[in-house]
Amino acid sequence: MDTEVAVIKEGGEVEAKPLRIGIIGCGGIAQTHIGYYKKMPGVSVVAGADIRPAALEHMKNAHGVNFVYDDFNEMLKEVGDGIDAISVATPNGVHHAAALAALNAGKHVLCEKPMAMNAKQAQEMADAAKANGVHFVIGFQHRFEPRSQVIRDLINSGALGDILYVRSQALRRRGIPNWGVFGRKELQGGGPMIDIGVHILEASHSLIGSPKPISATGNTFTFMGDKPSTVKSTWPNWDYETYTVEDMAVGMIRFDNGTMLTLESSFCAHIPEDVFNIQIFGTKGGAIWDSTQIFTDYNDYMINASPSFIPKWDMWQYKMQHFVEVARDGRKNEAPAEDGVAVQKMLDGIYAAAAAGKEVTIS
Ligand SMILES: NC(=O)c1ccc[n+]([C@@H]2O[C@H](COP(=O)([O-])OP(=O)(O)OC[C@H]3O[C@@H](n4cnc5c(N)ncnc54)[C@H](O)[C@@H]3O)[C@@H](O)[C@H]2O)c1
Repeated sequence: MDTEVAVIKEGGEVEAKPLRIGIIGCGGIAQTHIGYYKKMPGVSVVAGADIRPAALEHMKNAHGVNFVYDDFNEMLKEVGDGIDAISVATPNGVHHAAALAALNAGKHVLCEKPMAMNAKQAQEMADAAKANGVHFVIGFQHRFEPRSQVIRDLINSGALGDILYVRSQALRRRGIPNWGVFGRKELQGGGPMIDIGVHILEASHSLIGSPKPISATGNTFTFMGDKPSTVKSTWPNWDYETYTVEDMAVGMIRFDNGTMLTLESSFCAHIPEDVFNIQIFGTKGGAIWDSTQIFTDYNDYMINASPSFIPKWDMWQYKMQHFVEVARDGRKNEAPAEDGVAVQKMLDGIYAAAAAGKEVTIS
């Protein structure tokens, strides 16, 4: 593995080793990727592929990227050795094909969340990375938050004891996306559970040490997104005619160590306000992620505590820098494909249980 991270130039000047990036899917989140790449010494975005001419024009005009293609296979073929690594930022339904093409072309890949449409695709992508000897990072970011670090450190220290139960929530009161293809099951794989539930699920799963999921139950509900609505909200007028995903999903996962996890996610739900949170229940203590509180017994009293100082950093900066350091410098991958596959198995499990109307085994 190449561990050289810097080039020492004549006169002793130190220059970061270059990393040349290609982008597949140059839409909304790709702009965030590019923004971070541009700030990193030695990193350059050299090519982009998108099926929309306007997105390719934007790559040229806003980012000075002149190698643009309407077909990612063509980009990989033509730019070839001129690209070291790829960001996959297409709709979910294209992640599998785009990541496989990049991995099989020998490129390191950062693939946006969710890793794929289902666990079968995700496993094929993980296998391709291994077969090609390249680094594959899944675009999870909430595991990299400072408050995730606080709770992970608490769990790892044993301060919360054995983890019995995790409650994970990604709930919007009224937030059905009115852009992109987020309402189309055939392109996204599902609705809020695979789109925003996946964020809180990956963070929760990583906090408790990524145990093996063995079964799932749950249900999904569509009651609003597939109809027109006159209710005033921040994102009105979504495309209800093409809406084929759930509005709300609830699920429960059993892990091989006995820990249970519930996942609640919604694009719309009749609740007082949006919730994006994790609660951990341990034998010696508990914790809440959002607002970072800890609950334990001390000196015969039940104590509620909160850290008076949590270091601050930008999780997106961490995510993007982490990918660059994994791809370029061989840093240990903290969002590996195995985690992406496990998260996908849990999502598949809940969707399958909803369809079957009963608990299903996760293999
Ligand atoms: N990590 C996060 O917080 C976060 C936030 C938003 C989106 N995302 C993920 O990023 C992905 C993209 O979401 P977005 O909001 O940028 O969507 P978007 O619709 O703004 O952008 C997707 C782009 O991919 C392009 N595209 C579609 N098919 C393609 C193909 N075959 N080849 C090349 N390009 C293709 C589209 O034309 C579009 O420009 C999704 O998987 C989403 O879940 C992650």
